[in-house]
Amino acid sequence: MSINVKQLAAEKAVEYVKDGMRVGLGTGSTAYWAIRKLGERVKEGLQITAVATSVASEEQARELGIPLVGFGDIGSLDLTIDGADELNHDLELIKGGGGALLREKIVARNSTRMIVVADESKAVHTLGKFPLPVEIVPFAWEWTVAALAKLGCTPELRRSGDALYKTDNGNYIADCRFGSIASAAELADSLQNITGVVEHGLFIGIAAVAIVGKPDGSIEVIERGQGE
Ligand code: A5P
Repeated sequence: MSINVKQLAAEKAVEYVKDGMRVGLGTGSTAYWAIRKLGERVKEGLQITAVATSVASEEQARELGIPLVGFGDIGSLDLTIDGADELNHDLELIKGGGGALLREKIVARNSTRMIVVADESKAVHTLGKFPLPVEIVPFAWEWTVAALAKLGCTPELRRSGDALYKTDNGNYIADCRFGSIASAAELADSLQNITGVVEHGLFIGIAAVAIVGKPDGSIEVIERGQGE
């Protein structure tokens, strides 16, 4: 029987969750397993409150009986567990493959600690092979996409069947193929300077720990600062 490496990493991350914590629930096929395990632990008596980064994760949490609270009811979070599309050894991430990058970044930035859960295929030397998701407002999207292209990428508006994909916030996603990102920090600055960009999928200086599952059943724990 082959090992589910996403489940392996996600369940390890859930060990960091303790009674009384306020927890951010990520989005995607790896975060799914973390939410599932948290649901099990809540049934066994774990006392937590949580907020979700997407409608899908919120629905999953609700079905599992994980107590969800409004953002106005808690000041910040202790811990967020979320997936990534790519991560390097400095714990710089590309996120947004599932389209939830804006909510994910808001939640992660308001957490004392963000733990990334991923399978080995997500760990890369240089970010950029995965097209960088950039959330943009629908108004004048053609101009925003043209401005993105000037940064040296090939942007493509994400589709969902015949229609353009819309995020939970009603925006579009431009998937930007950079090939290789020499400096994630410089690129993040440039992206933030484009009016029309709501948020981009580069997470820099946000994740504290990455838990990477491997097909042989082992786990690599990468802490930020380790690569320096
Ligand atoms: C959702 O918008 C993304 O940021 C996900 O966290 C990321 O795409 C990882 O998803 P998987 O765990 O499904 O690969």
